[in-house]
Amino acid sequence: MALVSAKEMLVKAHEGKYAVGQFNINNLEWTKAILQTAEELQSPVILGVSEGAGKYMCGFNTIVGMVNGMLETLNITVPVALHLDHGSYEGAKSAINAGFSSIMFDGSHYPIEENIAKTTELVHAAGVLGLSLEAEVGAIGGEEDGVVGNGEVADPKECKMIAELGVDMLAAGIGNIHGKYPENWAGLRFDVLADIQAACGDKPLVLHGGTGIPADMIKKAISLGVSKINVNTECQLAFQEATRAYIEAGKDQQGKGFDPRKLLAPGAEAIKATVKEKMELFGSVGKA
Ligand code: 13P
Repeated sequence: MALVSAKEMLVKAHEGKYAVGQFNINNLEWTKAILQTAEELQSPVILGVSEGAGKYMCGFNTIVGMVNGMLETLNITVPVALHLDHGSYEGAKSAINAGFSSIMFDGSHYPIEENIAKTTELVHAAGVLGLSLEAEVGAIGGEEDGVVGNGEVADPKECKMIAELGVDMLAAGIGNIHGKYPENWAGLRFDVLADIQAACGDKPLVLHGGTGIPADMIKKAISLGVSKINVNTECQLAFQEATRAYIEAGKDQQGKGFDPRKLLAPGAEAIKATVKEKMELFGSVGKA
C-alpha cells in the first residue's frame, strides 16, 4: 500500500478510543523493524522523522525512496504515514516537496499570531496535496535533536484558535517532555487536556514524549482524546542495550570484525518488541 495521510487513521482512532503510535526512525533497520511489526500486528503506524534524522539519513528524498521501497518489497498492507516531526517552516516545505504524506509544523516558539499565519499557509498547502498536518501549541519540554524546551502547559483558547485553522491533529503541551521523565515529574495535566479537547471539538490530539509515561496515564490520555502518541527514546534505549549486549558477547568474525548485518539485528529485534508493546498499550492492534 502506498503512503497515506494520517488523517483517516487518526479520525478512526479518535472515534474508536485508541491511539496510533508515531515511532521515530533513524536508519534502515529501525524503519524495517517498525513496518514489519505494524504489518504483523495489523496496526496503522506513523513513521516520524525529525529534521536532524532527515539530515543523517541523507535527506528527505532518500527517506521517501527508502520507505516507498520497503512498502513494496515487504508487502506492507497496513496504513503507513511518513510524518515530519517538529518541522520548521522551511523543513515542512522541503518534506512536502520530497513526498512526505504528513507534516508537523512546530510553530510553538513563535508568538501565537505568527504561529497562526504560518500554520494557515501550511493548512492550505496540505489540503491541496492531500497531506495531514499537525500543529503544536505550548512547547513540549526536554531535549530533542539538540533543541531544549521547557515543558509548557498549553492555553486551551490558543489550542482552539489553531485547531480551527483546519489542522488534522493538535499537539498540546500538558506537562509532557521528551526523553526520560525526572523522578519528581508532576505527571500529565488531565484537567488541561479535558479543557483542550472540549475547546477543540473532536480534533484528534497528540501526546509527545511517549517514553516512560505510565500505562494508566496513557490510557487516561487516550480516553480524553489523545489519538496519536510519539515514541522515540524508548526505541533508542532498547536498540542501544541490545547492540551493546551483542558487542560484549564478542560474536565477531575473528579478524574481520563484526558482520554489519548481524551487528544491528539484535537492536532491530529490540525495537520490534518495544513497538509491539506500545501498539498493544495504545490499542491499535488489529485496527488497520
Ligand atoms: P520520546 O523521545 O520521549 O519518546 O518522545 C518522542 C517524541 O515526542 C517525538 O516527537
